[in-house]
Amino acid sequence: MNLKDKRIVVTGGGSGIGLALALAFAEAGGQVVIAGRSKSRLKEAATSHPRLSGFTCDVTQSDDVAALCAHMDGGGGTDVLVNNAGIMHAFDVTTQFPLEMQLDEIEIDVAAPVRVVHHFLPGMLGRTSMIVNVSSGLAYVPYAAAPVYSASKAFLHSYTLSLRAQLAGTSVRVVELLPPVVDTELAQGLDPSFARMSPRDLAAAFLRGVRKGQDEIAPGQSTQIKWMSRLAPAFIFGMLNKSPRGTTA
Ligand SMILES: NC(=O)c1ccc[n+]([C@@H]2O[C@H](COP(=O)([O-])OP(=O)(O)OC[C@H]3O[C@@H](n4cnc5c(N)ncnc54)[C@H](OP(=O)(O)O)[C@@H]3O)[C@@H](O)[C@H]2O)c1
Repeated sequence: MNLKDKRIVVTGGGSGIGLALALAFAEAGGQVVIAGRSKSRLKEAATSHPRLSGFTCDVTQSDDVAALCAHMDGGGGTDVLVNNAGIMHAFDVTTQFPLEMQLDEIEIDVAAPVRVVHHFLPGMLGRTSMIVNVSSGLAYVPYAAAPVYSASKAFLHSYTLSLRAQLAGTSVRVVELLPPVVDTELAQGLDPSFARMSPRDLAAAFLRGVRKGQDEIAPGQSTQIKWMSRLAPAFIFGMLNKSPRGTTA
């Protein structure tokens, strides 16, 4: 897909991986709307490239997502939708980690991508377009210290496979990006011994994959996790989970 002048929306685009993807799209000539909850974060992020603009949207709120969709439609529609917004909690299940925080993970990491696709897909059908779901290498093998997060990414992986199968033969391409550990705010909750990829390198690997026609893009260690999960599942589970209990902050 030639990204020049394409209309792109990135949820969670105000920071981390979302912002790096937004900048890569903008550098490729796309017009990118970055969406998130914090107005000040979006405002600051939008100054980093003239093709970026911010739109306040909490992806757990249907009215907000409908307003984001209407905003995109008002400007000419959506060519690329990136479901990137996400949160992660690492915790020890033997402590009383607040249930609401665990359910928030399901709301943001599981329910929200489904909600966003529900709102955007009708306008994308019949248009040469692309949905990108950002899951994780942990979709292949869980990281026990973040149990709800890992399960949510396995959900998103499975949902994406089904979405792709149903949309095969339409004008909508479905791509999954499964990042390894990337140096962002979210990754501060992961084992400090894990190597970290830079958001910029991840975004570059993503665009290379898209241009090569790959639909499941698993940069860096995510590819190793994928193959090890098939060849030696117990071994790779043990490697990732030397400290299976997260630290409850
Ligand atoms: N970093 C990693 O190692 C890693 C690895 C694999 C996968 N991923 C995935 O990559 C995606 C981005 O993660 P990241 O590392 O870039 O995290 P991040 O730096 O913490 O950024 C997450 C972004 O999501 C937004 N967000 C959170 N809740 C939202 C909501 N309810 N509505 C709208 N926006 C919301 C945040 O903005 P506001 O708070 O302003 O809303 C923030 O801009 C996530 O799906 C994550 O699971 C990350």
